[in-house]
Amino acid sequence: TGSPVVLGIESSCDETGAGLVRDGRLLGHAVASSLDEHARYGGVVPEIAARAHVRAVGPVVRRALDEAGLRLRDVGAVAVTTGPGLAGALHIGVAAAKGYAYTLGVPLYGVHHLAGHAAADTLVHGPLPQPCVVLLVSGGHTSLLLVRDLARDRVEHLGDTLDDAAGECFDKVARVLGLPYPGGPAVDRVARDGDPHAVPLPRPLTGPRDDPYAFSFSGLKTAAARCAEAGGRQVADVAASLREAVADVLTRKAVAACLDHEVGTLVVVGGVAANSRVRELAGQRCATAGITLRIPPPGLCTDNGAMIAAVGDLLVRAGARPAPWPVSVDPSAP
Ligand code: KG4
Ligand code: ZN
Repeated sequence: TGSPVVLGIESSCDETGAGLVRDGRLLGHAVASSLDEHARYGGVVPEIAARAHVRAVGPVVRRALDEAGLRLRDVGAVAVTTGPGLAGALHIGVAAAKGYAYTLGVPLYGVHHLAGHAAADTLVHGPLPQPCVVLLVSGGHTSLLLVRDLARDRVEHLGDTLDDAAGECFDKVARVLGLPYPGGPAVDRVARDGDPHAVPLPRPLTGPRDDPYAFSFSGLKTAAARCAEAGGRQVADVAASLREAVADVLTRKAVAACLDHEVGTLVVVGGVAANSRVRELAGQRCATAGITLRIPPPGLCTDNGAMIAAVGDLLVRAGARPAPWPVSVDPSAP
């Protein structure tokens, strides 16, 4: 019936993901992470990530199929992340996707990783209202987007970070605080026992003359790190104050973008959308402003294959052309 089952494959960083989507419905997905292998280096090592993808991609596709109760031959289209991301890591996913598409004789679609993050939300909350404002916050990106139509690439860039991404800020301060990698979830956990007002931290670019949609986290990172290094503060208090500052700036600007553009829905996606204070504060501020808030569950906020399959499914149903063969990677895709 109708549209095909789309297999999505994600391998842009340290997560190998596979997902199966048909007609906007998530049928099954699985993720494997090489996180533990990078922990002792304090960050993702590209060569280790690529090798881990080689080992993980087959089993992850198998697990996704099992969860969906499907067989490989039920797959009618393949979608794969082509960028942005680590070149070697992307190549493994693309090579695997080509293999599946070629042997199955089905079309192959190249997917932008960030379109994937935004599409993740459609799997739980249905099609995105057009337009909507998307706050995309991950380890590599912090962007405010006015999304009109994801499948047709009608996305307007409102603002970006001028330096570090929000996730990067969490990861780097966590390191100084002696918390395990990745820092985001660790800061979030430790912050529960801290006082968010214990350490006065700046709220960068929130002044009346600042670009309303631009972000900057490097000064905030340095301020928090300096305070951690100076000692005499509880780790929990620094973590809670940092989490509060990041959540405050992110949600303040995202809500302002909705109001300025008279858009009724805010969608928050990417790894940092898993942050409990970001979720809570976004909820409070959207409720006050009369804006509908959509945030996928944490498991669909961080990198996964379901979100790539979701974009593939949108492309198939929009009648988009498959990627010209041979599909290649685009590590620095804008
Ligand atoms: O989207 P993602 O999985 O990968 C990228 O495309 O970057 O995001 C990973 C980032 C990391 O910086 C991680 O520390 C952060 O998301 N993150 C969090 C939380 N969970 C993951 N940051 C804050 N709070 C969390 N609960
Ligand atoms: Zn990501």
